[in-house]
Amino acid sequence: MTLKNTADRWGPVSQSLHWLIVLLILGLAVVGLTMGELPKTPKYFWVYTAHKSLGLTVLALVLLRLGWRLYAGSPDPVPGTPTWQHRIASFTHALLYALILAMPLSGWLYDSASGLRPFRWFGLFNVPKLTAPDEAVSSFARGAHGWLFWLLVALVLLHAGAALYHHLFQRDATLARMLPQGWLKPAPTESTPENTPKDPPHVV
Ligand code: HEM
Ligand code: HEM
Repeated sequence: MTLKNTADRWGPVSQSLHWLIVLLILGLAVVGLTMGELPKTPKYFWVYTAHKSLGLTVLALVLLRLGWRLYAGSPDPVPGTPTWQHRIASFTHALLYALILAMPLSGWLYDSASGLRPFRWFGLFNVPKLTAPDEAVSSFARGAHGWLFWLLVALVLLHAGAALYHHLFQRDATLARMLPQGWLKPAPTESTPENTPKDPPHVV
């Protein structure tokens, strides 16, 4: 079994990075949207630092994922996909990459420009600041961190909807090839000699 992507499916490295990043972004979203409501106890700062540390981890994983994609290539379009659909998918994927880079970068910029003490990445080392304290930059980055997130939510809904549509209605391998082999099979369209059992079980 190869770790690289092949002409007809995503390899285990690309698959793992895709689903790991999905899970981390989900966790970051839940924490990000609720942490402002926490009581201002020492735990409050701990949660912020965890959000920031995990957010920078996503930045590193996205860079790793893009590097791996350059090295390992990407599968050919699923057979039967019209060119216009393939173009829209490629454009959406590029936009998703831009957003999952912009999310952590805007958070990091906000943290840097707001003049807070440097935070330690999971308590291990000080994260450098991207810029000197600056109120205008800080409020721009804070706003961007918020609206980029909602743009990401909208795009992910379209993206996941398209993947499910392909699986359930087009009945092709688009979703199955982003999952480990054998986890999901594209549903057969109709009963054909190939998918009808030749010897039905003997009924006594
Ligand atoms: C993919 C990575 C990230 C995601 C998905 C994410 C998501 C979010 C979300 C949904 C919010 C709530 C926004 C709002 O209520 O308007 C938030 C807030 C926040 N995030 Fe992130 N974040 C990420 C990375 C980061 C990073 C790397 C940092 C800093 C180094 C950071 C710092 C913050 C801060 C300080 C807030 C609170 C903002 C406020 O008080 O309005 N985030 N994040
Ligand atoms: C935070 C959420 C998500 C993000 C940021 C995201 C991002 C991406 C990106 C950037 C690609 C393109 C990969 C490449 O060309 O290198 C991709 C592919 C894919 N994603 Fe997602 N995704 C998310 C959630 C989901 C969900 C929930 C599903 C399924 C229900 C899904 C199914 C797929 C599939 C099937 C592909 C492969 C498409 C193909 O082979 O043409 N993704 N995703």
